[in-house]
Amino acid sequence: MARFKLYPSILSADFAHLDKQIRESEKCGADGIHIDVMDGQFVPAITFGSPIVEAVRRSTDLPIDIHMMTIAPENHFKELIEAGADSITIHYEACHDVKATLEELGKHSVQKSVAINPATPVESISNVMGMIDQILVMSVVPGAGGQSFIPESLTKIAILSDQIKAQGLSVSIQVDGGINSTTIADTVNSGADILVAGSAVFNDSFSICDGLSKLRDID
Ligand code: DX5
Ligand code: ZN
Repeated sequence: MARFKLYPSILSADFAHLDKQIRESEKCGADGIHIDVMDGQFVPAITFGSPIVEAVRRSTDLPIDIHMMTIAPENHFKELIEAGADSITIHYEACHDVKATLEELGKHSVQKSVAINPATPVESISNVMGMIDQILVMSVVPGAGGQSFIPESLTKIAILSDQIKAQGLSVSIQVDGGINSTTIADTVNSGADILVAGSAVFNDSFSICDGLSKLRDID
């Protein structure tokens, strides 16, 4: 079995050919599809919501992983899950009470995940580790694709990985931002389970299949 999973982020996809690009990702071994929902408040950019999730759902049976860079994420849980979401990530920094927001998410049949920004220490989420299926360690400041990996993220990944093992928890570590063929090996070796990659999969220099196999090469 592969040591890690690869989730292409459609933020860098060609939206005029989204269906084709999702199908190609699936054919070439993607393990899930990562969708960045940005609200123009938690982060400056706005992206997309449930209509795009619903469109992606029609293109693939792969797990759909939603990364909510939004304040008051609970307002949109129902519509995103009805559109086809399999996992939903909320940002620790976007919630007034992250535990309460996770309890709200727990009312739905969906995997629960919390993201922490590069500046947020891992201890911030210690009290919710037992409530979640996944933790997302942001390795760039959220808001845009194509940024450089922040190396300090590796220490956070290693600490979380040790903590998860020591506590016997079943929590996956997802890493998002600046993942490419140069940064992926250290990230996996530090303990990451799921790697999100946008610009290293969807770009003008090589095909989606080549992008995925470059990332898989360390396996
Ligand atoms: C950034 C997003 C990422 C983005 C990553 O805020 O959360 O999912 O698509 O893009 P790359 O892989 O290009 O850094
Ligand atoms: Zn993301």
